Amino acid sequence: MKKKIGFFVGSLRKDSYSKAVAVALSSLFPEEYEPIFIDLHDLTMYNQDLDDNGTPPAAWTKFRDEVKQLTGLVFVTPEYNRSVPAVLKNALDVGSRPYGQNIWDGKPGLVVSVSPGALSAFGANHHLRQSLVFLNVPTLQQPEAYIGNVVNLINEDGTIAENTMNFFKTIVDAYLVFLDKNS
Ligand code: FNR
Repeated sequence: MKKKIGFFVGSLRKDSYSKAVAVALSSLFPEEYEPIFIDLHDLTMYNQDLDDNGTPPAAWTKFRDEVKQLTGLVFVTPEYNRSVPAVLKNALDVGSRPYGQNIWDGKPGLVVSVSPGALSAFGANHHLRQSLVFLNVPTLQQPEAYIGNVVNLINEDGTIAENTMNFFKTIVDAYLVFLDKNS
């Protein structure tokens, strides 16, 4: 059976650069892996009352079941106000509860941050890593993946230049070694 790799994109925007980068990264995984894009559009905001009284929204249950099937986690995120967009933080929160049922626990992660700006969403990258420490997601340290000036890396037709794809491949290859060691 193929190992499922979940892709979590921190943008809901139709023409998201982060999504385009995530799609490019997913194309570089070998045959024995199945990239799965986890849809975060309808993930209700976390409210602990709904877990406490046993009425979690169907979207939470579906999401938690999907994540439980995954071998690896790839987070591709833009930066909102120097931090992680709420949609992605909410996904982390929903997956972390009810208390003691953290679905992220022990699954090896990759963090990639994306920005049209030169600072490459460094703030989002490291705020995300901070949460992943608490959630016990071992995360690839090197190479770090800061994708800045992304507008210049993606062509009008969505294709990506060969040298950028080569860089993406070094990230994916390092993650695959890390995944193997940690799962
Ligand atoms: C942004 N953007 C942004 N960019 C950045 O590099 N650092 C930041 O702190 C912010 N803050 C921010 C806040 C909000 C609310 C929005 C909507 C945008 C710009 C952002 O990088 C740009 O819109 C990207 O195109 C968003 O990523 P996607 O949707 O293309 O993946």
